[in-house]
Amino acid sequence: MTSVCTLMVNGQSHTIAIDPFDTLLDVLRDALHLTGTKRGCDVGDCGACTVLVDGTPVNACLQLAATLQGRRITTIEGLATDGELTPLQKSFVNEGAIQCGFCTPGMTLAATALLHDNPDPTPDEIKEALSGNMCRCTGYAGIMRAVRRCGHDREDEGTCAKWAPENGTVPSTMHDTVGVSIPRVDAVDKVTGRVQYTADVFLANMAHGKLLGSPIAHGIITRIDTSRAEALPGVLAILTGKNVTDTKYGVSPARYDEDVLAKDKVRHVGDPIAAVAAIDERTAERAVALIDVEFEELPAVLDPVQAIADGAPLVHERYERNINTHVEQVFGDVEAGFAESYLVREETFTGNHVYQCPMEPHASIATWDPDGTLVLYSSTQVPHYVQYMMAHVLHIPLGRIRVIRPAVGGGFGGKAATTPLDICSALLSRRIGRPVKMVYSRAEMFRYGRGRHKQYMKFKLGVDRDGKIKAFKSEIYLDGGAYSSFGVVTAYYAGSMIPTLYHLPAYQYDGYRVMTNKPACGAMRGHGAPQPRFAFECLLGMVADELGIDPVEIRERNAMDPETMTINGLDIGSCEYRATLKAVKEKSGWSDKYGKLPAGKGIGIGCGGFVSGSGYCIYRGQVQLSHEKPREPFQKKSVFPHANAVVKVTEDGMAAV
Ligand code: FES
Ligand code: FES
Repeated sequence: MTSVCTLMVNGQSHTIAIDPFDTLLDVLRDALHLTGTKRGCDVGDCGACTVLVDGTPVNACLQLAATLQGRRITTIEGLATDGELTPLQKSFVNEGAIQCGFCTPGMTLAATALLHDNPDPTPDEIKEALSGNMCRCTGYAGIMRAVRRCGHDREDEGTCAKWAPENGTVPSTMHDTVGVSIPRVDAVDKVTGRVQYTADVFLANMAHGKLLGSPIAHGIITRIDTSRAEALPGVLAILTGKNVTDTKYGVSPARYDEDVLAKDKVRHVGDPIAAVAAIDERTAERAVALIDVEFEELPAVLDPVQAIADGAPLVHERYERNINTHVEQVFGDVEAGFAESYLVREETFTGNHVYQCPMEPHASIATWDPDGTLVLYSSTQVPHYVQYMMAHVLHIPLGRIRVIRPAVGGGFGGKAATTPLDICSALLSRRIGRPVKMVYSRAEMFRYGRGRHKQYMKFKLGVDRDGKIKAFKSEIYLDGGAYSSFGVVTAYYAGSMIPTLYHLPAYQYDGYRVMTNKPACGAMRGHGAPQPRFAFECLLGMVADELGIDPVEIRERNAMDPETMTINGLDIGSCEYRATLKAVKEKSGWSDKYGKLPAGKGIGIGCGGFVSGSGYCIYRGQVQLSHEKPREPFQKKSVFPHANAVVKVTEDGMAAV
C-alpha cells in the first residue's frame, strides 16, 4: 500500500507517496525527475544508478525507497555548488574520462566517496572502489587518471586542462584544436547529470509501453487472448499483429522481413507479439504478463551449419535453405594460384557472437502533434534511417516525422536499426492520444539482439617457398539470427576487407548469411570484418611457422603498398603497413621476445594487422538470394567504404561541418 515518506535528497526534503516496491531509483527518476541517476541494468550489476547514502555509494536500484527516511541522499545533481564543479568533476572533464557519459554520474559519485575517505588512493584502491561501476566506452584509463589527479599525487591540471571550461578560454585557431586534447563540448553537462538521454525525457500526460516477447524460439501463433490484460485497471491500449500494419520493415536498402508485431509466426525468443500502453510502466508489465498466447511449437534451428542442412526447418519460407544472402566473389585464377603454391594450408576458425551492451538501454518516446506530425525521441545512432523507416512502415510522408535524438549512452552499431520500440510507441501514442515512452530492460536488450554475427570460416592459403601469397580462398557462414537487419552488408564486408592488408594475386570469397531462430545480428564495430581478419592473421602465422619464417617478416613480404588497387578493386591510397610493421618490430623488442617464453607459458608477443572501413560502401558485388537463378561469379571492382563531409564557411569566419 502506498505510504507518504520524507526523503532528504541533495539537502532538500521531499515528501512523496511511495509504493512499497518503489526503489530509490524509481523515486529519484520518476517522482523527483533527478535523471542524472541512470538505470542501466536494474539488478545491481552496472553501477550506473550509484548514489551516496550518508556518504556511502549504493546502487539505487537495490534500495527500497521507503527504508531511507532520515538518511542523507546525494545524487550527481547535488555535487556542484552554485554551478562550480568539484575538483573531481573538473578532473573528469579535463582528463577526457567521459565519452557517452551514461556511466559518469555513478562513476563520479563512487570516486567522490573514495576520495573523501582516502584522499590519496593507489591505483589498486581506485580499481577496487570503482569495481562496481562499468564503463562501456572510455576504457577506464581516463577515469583512472581523473581520480589519480585528484589525489595527493596530483601532477598537473590534466590532459585537456588548457581548454577547460572554467578557464574561460575557448580554442579558436587550428593550432589550438588540431593534434591537441580539448574537453568534450558536452563534458560538463555529462559530469553534472544535466544531459538528457531519451529515457530522461518526461512529457506531460505521458503513458508507458511494454512489449510482450515470444517465450519460444520458433512456432505458429494459434491464439492470442488479451481480455485479462485489458481488464487490468490502468491499461490504456493493447496492440497485436492483427491491428498493426502489414508492411514489413528492416534495414534499408537491404531486405524488409520483420513484422512490427508477429502476424502468424514467432522466430526467436523475444520476437514481439503484443504492445501494451498503461498509466505507468509497472502496470504495463503486469498487463503483458496477463496476455495469453498459444503456440504450435516448431523445431528451432540454432546453428547456421545445421540450418542449411537438407530438411532443416525454415525460419522464413521466402529464404530457401535458410540462406538469407550469398555473396560470391572471384578475382584472379585461384586454382592456378594454389597449383603453383609451395605450401597450401587449410584451417577452420570460429569468430564468436558478441553483444554491444551499451550502458544505456534502447528507449523511444512518441507523441503526435495536432497537425498529424509524429515526434519521436529515440536512442538511435541514425535518426535519418529511423525517419525513413517510420515513413515506410506507418505510411506517412517523411515531412510528417520529426526524429529527435537526445544524448545516446553508447551504441557501437547496436542502435543502428529502427527498433520495435520506435514503431510501437508511435502506434500506441496514436491510438491513445497521449505520449508513450517505451524502454527496454537489460534482459530485453539481449533478446532484441543486433550484435556481432558469429562466423564459421573455412580458409585456404597458398604461398610460395618465401611465404609470398599466391592464392587465398574463404568460405564463411554467418549466423544471422531471425531477420536480415544489417546482415547483407555484413556478409559483404566479411569478405571484401580481407585483401586490403596484403597483396593477394588471386582471391575467392563465398559468404553465406544464414537465418537461425535467434535474435537477429546486425551492425557492430567493423561490420563483419574483424573475425575474418583475425582468422587470416592466425593462418598467416601458422604458414610462417611451417616455413620457418619470422611472423613479422612474412607480413612485410606480403604487405600492401600505397597507391595500389587490391585484387578486388579497392583503391588503397595511403598505406603505411610495411613501415608500421618495421616500427613495431623495433620498438617492441620483437626479435628478442618472439618464441622465447618457456614451453607451456605461451609464445611471447604476437603480431597481426587490422584494417577498418570508414563510412559506407557502394556495393557493386554480387549478392544473391537463394531462390534466384545462379549467376556468373562477380569479377568487377568493388568500391571502398567512403565518407565525405561538407564544410561551409560563413562570412564571420565560422565553419559548419
Ligand atoms: Fe543499478 Fe545497474 S546497478 S541500474
Ligand atoms: Fe562510460 Fe559510456 S562513457 S559507458
